[in-house]
Amino acid sequence: MKSIAFGTLKGGTGKTTSCFNLAGALALNPDNKILLVDGDPQCNLTNDIGIDCSDMERNNIRTIFENKKIDPSELIMHGVLEQLPNIDIIPSNILLIKTEMQLVSIAGREKLLANYFERNKEFFSQYTHIIFDTNPNLGVINQNIFYFVDSIILVSDVSLNAIQGAELFTFLWEENIEDLGIDNNIKALIINNFDKRINLAKDLQDYYLSEAEFKDILVEVPIPGSVAMKDTSINHLPLVVLQPHHQVATAIKRVVKDLIVREVF
Ligand SMILES: Nc1ncnc2c1ncn2[C@@H]1O[C@H](COP(=O)(O)OP(=O)(O)OP(=O)(O)O)[C@@H](O)[C@H]1O
Ligand SMILES: [Mg+2]
Repeated sequence: MKSIAFGTLKGGTGKTTSCFNLAGALALNPDNKILLVDGDPQCNLTNDIGIDCSDMERNNIRTIFENKKIDPSELIMHGVLEQLPNIDIIPSNILLIKTEMQLVSIAGREKLLANYFERNKEFFSQYTHIIFDTNPNLGVINQNIFYFVDSIILVSDVSLNAIQGAELFTFLWEENIEDLGIDNNIKALIINNFDKRINLAKDLQDYYLSEAEFKDILVEVPIPGSVAMKDTSINHLPLVVLQPHHQVATAIKRVVKDLIVREVF
């Protein structure tokens, strides 16, 4: 079982879109069994997959923090995507923001999620991949996610603000892991919404390749910008299923291949 989280400290770079679409491509291999976990109170991943996150009755990621004893089988929604039955999800909930505030004063607060997965590791070992989406901050919930996962994938778009977001994330997380006592788990950097006609596009790639903390983790193939990617959210289906022959679907499969080589996926 590999655990992965998408992150950065700039909003809107395509973390959720990449998470949904790369997981979709990974699920084309029927040997893979994927658990998506939505760690963002905005619930974008939950919405993308077609689940209503305002449902207060349903268990969700909050439940892990509020009821340590919850049986993991009660958290999970199975086979939400008919075409990709090997994807399960633990949805988010709009009140996750409230949990965030409640956790601030608890001792060992950054390790609660890791402890839960450790206690239930037999159950979670049925999955080949557990993939978390996060929002652009390093609050307690995200710290729990980034502490738990084997690999963090940074997502940049083609903008100076995205470089700043990736650098700030790397700087703050490296400081954090010293205190948490783990090795650096930032293992990949993806450029999303790529358009080579933008003047900055080539410079941005060159910049990442020139920086010590990014040059070895940059995934060479970017995910192109395309309206087809916006449709994945509206249609609740990853592009590899929605338009399998689209050139962006091909790029997504190449990114997945690269991440497999890196042993991130
Ligand atoms: N490759 C792409 N081509 C075109 N549009 C894209 C692409 N990737 C993402 N988008 C669009 O950009 C917007 C932001 O994407 P997304 O919600 O995935 O970003 P995010 O990083 O998850 O945002 P947040 O920081 O709020 O969680 C969405 O409208 C999405 O449809
Ligand atoms: Mg998002």
